[in-house]
Amino acid sequence: MSHKLIDAPPVADSGALRAAFGRFATGVVAVTYEADGVRYGMTANSFTSVSLDPALALVAVKKTSRAREFLETGYYTVNVLAEQQLDTGLHFAGRPGGAEVEWLTTGRSPRLAGALAYFECEPWATYDGGDHVLVVGRITAFGEGVEVAEAAPLVFFEGAWRRLAAGACA
Ligand SMILES: Cc1cc2nc3c(=O)[nH]c(=O)nc-3n(C[C@H](O)[C@H](O)[C@H](O)COP(=O)(O)O)c2cc1C
Repeated sequence: MSHKLIDAPPVADSGALRAAFGRFATGVVAVTYEADGVRYGMTANSFTSVSLDPALALVAVKKTSRAREFLETGYYTVNVLAEQQLDTGLHFAGRPGGAEVEWLTTGRSPRLAGALAYFECEPWATYDGGDHVLVVGRITAFGEGVEVAEAAPLVFFEGAWRRLAAGACA
């Protein structure tokens, strides 16, 4: 069987590649963890569910990020952000703007109040992902948070934060 080869974009055009990637609409998560008694978060849209048995989830983490070593070695929580948590998403993307982050600290890693769902994870495997590390975690606890009827998901599309249009299309 032969495949038609499509030229890979030149590395110099990473802006065009980023724009094309950006046409894939995603939800947004904040990955939270604690290190030396301090609670941290990292905004991400590379979250992917992986496996039900065992329960696994993946986040692609930039190799230069502070979060990397902690996600590879300790417990962390993936929080699915609601529309009302836009300021939290900005805050954990390195754009602090006075976001009031409300933490819940009953689990093995801190998580966010007001999220649509959460997945507490422990390290399972990591894979090289170029300038990112693909961090696969085993889910040790999870739950749904605020009702979707009360809080819509935060959406990221074409480099902008969006809200989900109401109604199903099929
Ligand atoms: C919508 C959005 C999605 C992002 N997704 C990711 C991601 O999947 N992986 C990643 O490493 N960084 C992602 N980032 C960038 C990080 O949030 C940002 O680099 C952050 O400052 C890293 O924090 P840290 O260095 O404290 O860990 C995203 C940023 C935004 C605004």
